[in-house]
Amino acid sequence: MAKEKVVRELEDLPGIGPTSAEKLKAAGFDTLEKVATASPHELSEISGISVDTAKKAVATAQESTTINYQTGEAILEKRKEIGKISTNSKDLNDMIGGGVETNAITEAYGKFSSGKTQLGFQLCVSVQKPKKEGGLDGGVLFIDTEGTFRPERIAEIAKAQGMDPTKVLENIVVVRAQTTDQQILTAERADKLIQEKNIKLVIVDSMTSLFRAEFLGRGALGERQQKLNSHVHRLQTLADKHNIAVYITNQVMDNPGILFGDPTTPIGGNVLAHAATTRLYLRKSKEEKRIVRLVDSPSQPEGECVMKVTPEGIKD
Ligand code: GTP
Ligand code: MG
Repeated sequence: MAKEKVVRELEDLPGIGPTSAEKLKAAGFDTLEKVATASPHELSEISGISVDTAKKAVATAQESTTINYQTGEAILEKRKEIGKISTNSKDLNDMIGGGVETNAITEAYGKFSSGKTQLGFQLCVSVQKPKKEGGLDGGVLFIDTEGTFRPERIAEIAKAQGMDPTKVLENIVVVRAQTTDQQILTAERADKLIQEKNIKLVIVDSMTSLFRAEFLGRGALGERQQKLNSHVHRLQTLADKHNIAVYITNQVMDNPGILFGDPTTPIGGNVLAHAATTRLYLRKSKEEKRIVRLVDSPSQPEGECVMKVTPEGIKD
């Protein structure tokens, strides 16, 4: 008897070729769950397949998506597999519960020169260390949207922390994204790379700058948020599926609606606020000092600590 085809992606559905799958994804039907709850007529209209084919696709999607009941105990077991990447600052590690976690998105937002990129460089080095030294023995996928990736700087940090700079740089795959489409596509196609290169950390620096540049004006805001939403969900899926950490950086703007207190608000609105598991707000202080505020965390209390951006990397 022929083995039944396992349905994992849209392309695995009967009658859905790569072209129709692309069209569906572009329209927001990017998971089997979404197809399973869609109307066949709508799918047909979007992708150009016949209504009958769409009906079969919906039925197959329904069969292959199951509700995943799990006990609290099972989730606790799974959480034991979660890895933590050291920021190289003990205070910052303590504040966020041991380090930057896998299976989650950690966002750092703040003004220019607040240290978002430097923290990313430190994580590029840390993740490659063995577990007992705060690493995950893994590589990095670095999506650079601002052209600020600096191998020399990473080499300097690696050397100062007793690692071979050449090997450290070899384990970092860099994609220079110039458009939001390139940025999104890199995440869409990252599965194979993550497995082949044993990647444990994906960095998007920055998450929002290209979106901001491409979608100008109020009219484009809806589309921008929609695209950003699907991109950040894709990153979360990568984090879950491969048990890797995702670190994203984000710019800020002054919110004129806030009259008292700090008017600095991260870009990306609710979309990013809800998607990021842990949010850090970075502020410049004197010289090398940076104040890091834990704004949002599923398990740690809000708090503040100081880290230093030094030639040898992040320090207390
Ligand atoms: P934007 O990307 O502009 O929004 O800022 P950012 O938050 O990413 O800032 P970044 O992480 O690039 O931090 C810049 C700061 O890090 C600078 O003001 C320097 O103080 C420090 N820095 C940058 N490069 C070096 C370096 O090579 N050595 C040392 N010691 N510090 C550096
Ligand atoms: Mg930067």
